[in-house]
Order: sequence, then C-alpha cells, then structure tokens
Amino acid sequence: MKILIVGSGAREYSIALSLLNDIRLSQLYFCPGNGATCELGENINIKGNEEIVAFCINNNIALVIIGPEAPLTSGLSNQLRENNIRVFGPSKEAAKLEDSKIFMKNILDKYNINTAKFFSGNNKNELCDFIDSLDTQKVVVKADGLCAGKGVIIANKDEAKKVLDEMLNGSLFGEAGSSVVIEEYLDGFELSIFAICDGDDFIILPSAQDHKRLLDNDLGPNTGGMGAYSPTPLCSDELLNDIKQNIIKPTLEAMKNEGAEFCGVLFCGIMVVNNKPYVLEFNVRFGDPECEVILPLLKTPLLDIINASIDKKIKNFKYEILDKSCVGVVVASKNYPFQASPKEEIRYSKINFLSNQLSHISFAGVSNIDGKLYADGGRVFVAVGIGDTIIEAKQNAYKLIENISFKGMQFRNDIAYRALK
Ligand code: AMP
Ligand code: GLY
Repeated sequence: MKILIVGSGAREYSIALSLLNDIRLSQLYFCPGNGATCELGENINIKGNEEIVAFCINNNIALVIIGPEAPLTSGLSNQLRENNIRVFGPSKEAAKLEDSKIFMKNILDKYNINTAKFFSGNNKNELCDFIDSLDTQKVVVKADGLCAGKGVIIANKDEAKKVLDEMLNGSLFGEAGSSVVIEEYLDGFELSIFAICDGDDFIILPSAQDHKRLLDNDLGPNTGGMGAYSPTPLCSDELLNDIKQNIIKPTLEAMKNEGAEFCGVLFCGIMVVNNKPYVLEFNVRFGDPECEVILPLLKTPLLDIINASIDKKIKNFKYEILDKSCVGVVVASKNYPFQASPKEEIRYSKINFLSNQLSHISFAGVSNIDGKLYADGGRVFVAVGIGDTIIEAKQNAYKLIENISFKGMQFRNDIAYRALK
C-alpha cells in the first residue's frame, strides 16, 4: 500500500521509520517532507488541502497520516474522508481541542475534568479582576489560538496585565491573541500522555516527558522541545489510571456528546501537583519530540495501531510494548529559537539510518543539496538512543551525537535528568 505522511519534522521522519520495514508498505510519500525524508520515500511539493486530496486520488494513496496540527485544524482529514481516503488524524471539529484554548477549557469545565482555575474572553477589566482574585504570585496568560508553541506566558500579576494588553490589541500574536485564557499557576511536574482513540475507546502509549526550555536545568527560553524520554518512572500506575479514568475517558465522552468524536492521537499535556493530574493542554497529534522516543518502543506494528483506530477496533485491540527505554536529544541550530541560522553542512559517520529499534537519528530541519545534508535552521535532528534502562538509552543518544556534527550545533546535556535523580 502507498502511504502519505503530511509534515516535515523529526516526528514525521520517525513515523516513517516505524512503517519502513512493514511488508504492507509499497511506497512512502511526504508532503512536504525534509531533506532527509527523501531518502525514505518521495517528497511531494504540493500545498493546500485540495491539492493533497487530488494527489491521493490520482496516486491511489491507501492511507494518509497527518503529523502537525495546522492541517488538522484546517480540516484536511474531513476533506480526505469526504473523498473516501483513509486518514489517521481527527476532524476539524475534534481538532478544536488544540485550535482553541477557550474551547478546550470550556469542555473541561463543562464535564468536570481537572484543570487549572481559569477565566477567558476579551474583556480586559474582567480578565484583570480575575488576575487580582488569584492567590498565586505567578499567573499564566494564554492566547486562545495557535501560536506555534509560543502563546503561553508565565508572569507576575503586573507583568501579566501588560502582556494581556499586548495580546488583546494584537501586537503580540495577532488574531490568535484576540481572546485569552488566564490561569492560576500550577507548580508541579509535567507529563506527556498519548492516547490512540477511535471515538469511543482508547489505548495508552508509553508515558513521556518533554524538556521545553533551551538550556540545561530548565533554564532559558521556551522552545518546541529540546528532548524527551520514555517511559518515565514519574508516571506511576496509579497516576496513569487516574489520567485514564478521570481525564481521557471523560474527554472522549465529552467530545462525542458535543458531536465531535475524537479519532486519532490525543496528546494530554498534564501537570502533576501533589500527585493529582491537571490538564494543561490537549494536542490532537503526536508530540514532537515525544513521538521520536515513543514509536521505537512499540512491539506491535504502528500500522496495526493506526488501522485499529480508523476501523474503530480499539476496544479489544491487543498491543505490546518493548521492555526498553528511549531518550531523544534534540540538536538545534545556533540561533534557535530566536532567528534563522546559516545553512551548515552536517558531517557524520557510523550511524544507523534505517531501523528505528536501534539507536538512530530522526531528521527535521535539514536540506539536501546534491546528496549532502545541511542543517537548515530550527531543530535540526533528534539523536534517539535506545537501551535496557534510561541511563543506557541516554548514553546511546549522546554517543550518537559524538558521531554527527555541524557548525553552531546546540543541545542540552541533561535530557531525562528527572528520571535519573
Ligand atoms: P500549553 O501550551 O498550554 O501546554 O503551555 C505551554 C507550557 O506552559 C506548558 O508545557 C507548561 O510548562 C506551562 N504552563 C501552561 N499552563 C500552565 C499553568 N497553569 N501552570 C504552570 N505552567 C503552565
Ligand atoms: N512536545 C510538545 C509539542 O509537540 O507540542
């Protein structure tokens, strides 16, 4: 069968690696892909949902896997389904869980699902009153719409009011900030929990932890994520059960009740405070870099899991996870996350490129010029180490980095530190 993967990051690269050795796959396409995905399949340079649908029809694509949020919130999966093309990714209506923080918070509120206290809207006075009413020193200001991971600001009350002003007048995030959510600040540790859903039922993939700050010890600016590991010992069975019963199950019921049943990957960003899970956010897709450390741990073929979701057979679906650990270290360009960086040639030796169950590299911001790979800004690749323990996986990830380099590369040295404390 022919499969099209929509997206261009290391997440999409790792999805491809998980499918590559499946004998059912005849050809992989990426839209748009990156300078390394063209080694795994064919990059298709088309833009716009109509063009993607037409490509799928004309090329007999049997399955489309949508990686990033933007095509989901724009309704690509609806359009594919209307044309009888199999797609893994929620509808536009279900993707609102990520597209609008106000929608998401209102669902949580209406169905009594645990989340930070909040107030939302665009009335500055009411929002400021709510800020004053909170008893925490720090408060959280969130733009309602998608801001590529930059729409959340944590500040003291005076700063928060200033930021609020800049969001509402459009100077900070444009239209995405024209409505905002104010939240109480939660002080705990974060987990990334992924549920593969078919509208009614779900299965849980190994738990993960992301590292959002640029620098070691969680210092520096927020990024798209500088590394992740899985599974995390911080997620006990008891905690996971709590998340399943009191967060994921009622969220699927809520979405069904709202006429927007959720099929696809539900990514729950959880904050654990005093052993109680709170929903920070929902994403409607695999996390990046979490995806890169979770997929290598699947013993059951990814394609079987995707098919069970699309065919609504998750309820009795049996799946197996390897008894291994995985650590992914993001290597970024010199100026990340502030501005673009010059193209730099990537040099490497002794690296496995074609199996995702051995330590490997997942490529993201790279271009390919005459068969040579160049770092092309942003997050360039993820070094994915696999081992019997997190320590071993971490050593394997950093060993990989010794064998691959480009000028100006930066990465954190402490990925998985919370698991190793
Ligand atoms: P979000 O996009 O809503 O997940 O927010 C991005 C990041 O901001 C989260 O991963 C947390 O690190 C932080 N954050 C968001 N909401 C809160 C909150 N209520 N309390 C503390 N930190 C938060
Ligand atoms: N790792 C966080 C995200 O994908 O948004």
